[in-house]
Amino acid sequence: MNILLLGTGGRENAMAWKISRSPKLTKLFIAPGNTGTASFGKNLTLSSTNFQSIKETVLANHINMVVVGPEEPLVNGIYDFFASDAALKNISVIGPSQQGAQLEGSKDFAKSFMMRHNIPTAKYLSITKNSIEKGFKFLQTMKAPYVLKADGLAAGKGVLIINDLQDAKKELAAMLDGSFGKASETVVIEEFLSGIECSVFVLTDGKSYKILPEAKDYKRIGEGDTGLNTGGMGAVSPVPFADKIFMNKVEKRIIIPTIEGLKKENIIYKGFIFLGLINVSGDPAVIEYNCRMGDPETEVVMLRLKSDILELFEGVAKENLETKTLVTDERHAATVMLVSGGYPGNYEKGKIITGLDKTRDSIIFHAGTTMQDGQTVTAGGRVIAVSSYGKTTTDALEQSYKNASLINFDGKYFRRDIGFDIA
Ligand code: AMP
Ligand code: GLY
Repeated sequence: MNILLLGTGGRENAMAWKISRSPKLTKLFIAPGNTGTASFGKNLTLSSTNFQSIKETVLANHINMVVVGPEEPLVNGIYDFFASDAALKNISVIGPSQQGAQLEGSKDFAKSFMMRHNIPTAKYLSITKNSIEKGFKFLQTMKAPYVLKADGLAAGKGVLIINDLQDAKKELAAMLDGSFGKASETVVIEEFLSGIECSVFVLTDGKSYKILPEAKDYKRIGEGDTGLNTGGMGAVSPVPFADKIFMNKVEKRIIIPTIEGLKKENIIYKGFIFLGLINVSGDPAVIEYNCRMGDPETEVVMLRLKSDILELFEGVAKENLETKTLVTDERHAATVMLVSGGYPGNYEKGKIITGLDKTRDSIIFHAGTTMQDGQTVTAGGRVIAVSSYGKTTTDALEQSYKNASLINFDGKYFRRDIGFDIA
């Protein structure tokens, strides 16, 4: 099979690594990819949201399957673009239809979907400018902290958690006034749920599903989960509290009703569903849906997926996923993200990365890197994800930290406490 993988981050590097290990692979292309993905296939200079040039590339390179990494092309309707084009309709897209991607693209859609299908989630109310007074009243009935979410995609920054009622009201008004542009024309006000979070990933062909290894990511920039939110500073898998009892609840109360709900509503969904869950005293609730894999969770999940990923993707494409088996590696996995100094605020790019060749017994995934004058240089906030196996999470982390210290670039920063709350 010839595969085109869309995206450019650590997630896509981890997927490229996994796809490259499949005996079913003939040729892998990544668009646009990074220095890391170039070791596993051919990078193409192509934006993952330019559907017309994706079409030309797919036809020119005899691509059989397109695997979509990030949410944006999905929310913009890449699945539907392929399905409705005579020349592309037999090429499979791993990812949901535009309507299915609304589970991530619109928080209001996701919440009402969960209500319709009785899926546990925080109490909420969706507000627009016309109903702002209702929003103020709803806030008054809730206890602090107050959770405000921009309805649309906001590059991971659309969730505000505010301690003071007056501040929350002010922020609600600002959001409705466009502080997140169109994304906050509708705002979801949510009850605050208290508990520890984890990410569960489901692959579905729209009829049946497979549950991938779960993971926990560390979103804050500072140790002890302090400071600003980032794209993710590290991840571990497995997650000890996601034991059989908890996962059975997740499957019965969340996964099955989600798949059945999509079916009932005739929403085409052939791809990953990422459940952002919170464990509220032993009971799982959905914090968010995403229509893609997580980053940096993929950098541990791919390590723990033993099965041939293209075999599973074929199952999705041919709608016979139920005939496939998903085998999990019993080993633990951990990833530590090396980021640019200043991230998630302003940071400089183009710093030379050294020591990549000195690392041993970890898998080095590139997140934000590029080649410049024959050297690998930084090209993003998140730069390198150092992923390792271990008998325990502590062992896996130790291995990643050993190699994290060998890789250097000006301004390198990483959290030294990944897994602190569970390892
Ligand atoms: P999201 O962008 O939806 O992932 O939200 C970002 C983060 O905000 C989540 O990972 C949670 O830590 C937090 N969060 C979102 N919704 C809630 C909620 N209802 N209760 C508590 N924390 C929340
Ligand atoms: N790690 C969280 C995300 O990918 O959204």
